[in-house]
Amino acid sequence: MSNVATSPAIELCGLTRIFAAGSDVVRALDDVTFSVAPGECVALLGVNGAGKTTLTKVLSTLLLPTSGKARIAGFDVVEQPREVRARLAAVFGGERGLYSMLTARENLEYFGMLAGVGRRDLRLRVPELLAEVGLDDAADRRVEGYSKGMKQRLHIAAGLVGDPEVLLLDEPTVGLDPTEADRLRGKIAQLVDGGMTVLLTSHYLLDVERLAARVLLIDHGRLTHDMSLRAFAAVAGYEAAVIVSVGEGAADVVVRRAREVGGIVVAKIDGTDGDGNDHVTLLVERWQPELLVVLGQALTAVPVLDIQVRAAGLEEAFAVLTKGQSV
Ligand SMILES: Nc1ncnc2c1ncn2[C@@H]1O[C@H](COP(=O)(O)OP(=O)(O)O)[C@@H](O)[C@H]1O
Ligand SMILES: [Mg+2]
Repeated sequence: MSNVATSPAIELCGLTRIFAAGSDVVRALDDVTFSVAPGECVALLGVNGAGKTTLTKVLSTLLLPTSGKARIAGFDVVEQPREVRARLAAVFGGERGLYSMLTARENLEYFGMLAGVGRRDLRLRVPELLAEVGLDDAADRRVEGYSKGMKQRLHIAAGLVGDPEVLLLDEPTVGLDPTEADRLRGKIAQLVDGGMTVLLTSHYLLDVERLAARVLLIDHGRLTHDMSLRAFAAVAGYEAAVIVSVGEGAADVVVRRAREVGGIVVAKIDGTDGDGNDHVTLLVERWQPELLVVLGQALTAVPVLDIQVRAAGLEEAFAVLTKGQSV
């Protein structure tokens, strides 16, 4: 048996998964190698179809790899699936996987028994978990009446009931309203602070920014980048994004004039909103407030409605690294 105490929490070596769909062969994972230390929170990013869910499924023993190795806390996902399942919880977004006719408490008791937690422990653990994910008030209501956010928090509680060392989260905030998403992020942050190893897949760079210290990027099944969050954010090479809102039809003028302003490296039209106003994004290499003055002068006589400045960061880095493939 491996030396579990010193093993990485997650370890992949040449992991490959091929799907054959008729005559088509898809390399959903192609020779992926990385490892995650206990207590790390790592974000797994990639455009749709990059292979993120496949990776999560192989690690959680739901899919067999075609070749290569994967281990959780030193245990091989193919040869020791029971040991792996005892140490890992995977939470996939969405409606599936919960018993809607049961209450949250009953769901947790059921998943706890499946995870091999004894009755006596469950009597303590279930109320604790319900409180932790903020479902204590709704604990005895049927899950069918829950909001998406409540279901998602219950999914996480169900994952935690077996006291896992490693948590895999596949798009945990998808479909949640901003308040619910924020609450869930807070819960995940607590787990990370408490030393849980988390592999977080998300389309929402807000999740990544808040939670992860390291970013893995996959593209067509291949791991293309493995870097710190800070290095990832710096990839874009822009310090700020200036978003200019103008009346309909004025976007072209903004782009043309902005390109003549020194320091603005990219000027692009984002489109028109519901009120018929156009938005233009200007990316700035080195931010200084005087730029707004210069920009204001350049835009004299243009019907500017609003100018917002934000720090350029993950969105831009993601766009650069994925070469503009849509998320
Ligand atoms: N069961 C399957 N059969 C055939 N192809 C699949 C299957 N599951 C996933 N794929 C393909 O594998 C690739 C990776 O999919 P997935 O892991 O779901 O990507 P992501 O989660 O990053 O969006 C995609 O091209 C997808 O179409
Ligand atoms: Mg997916």
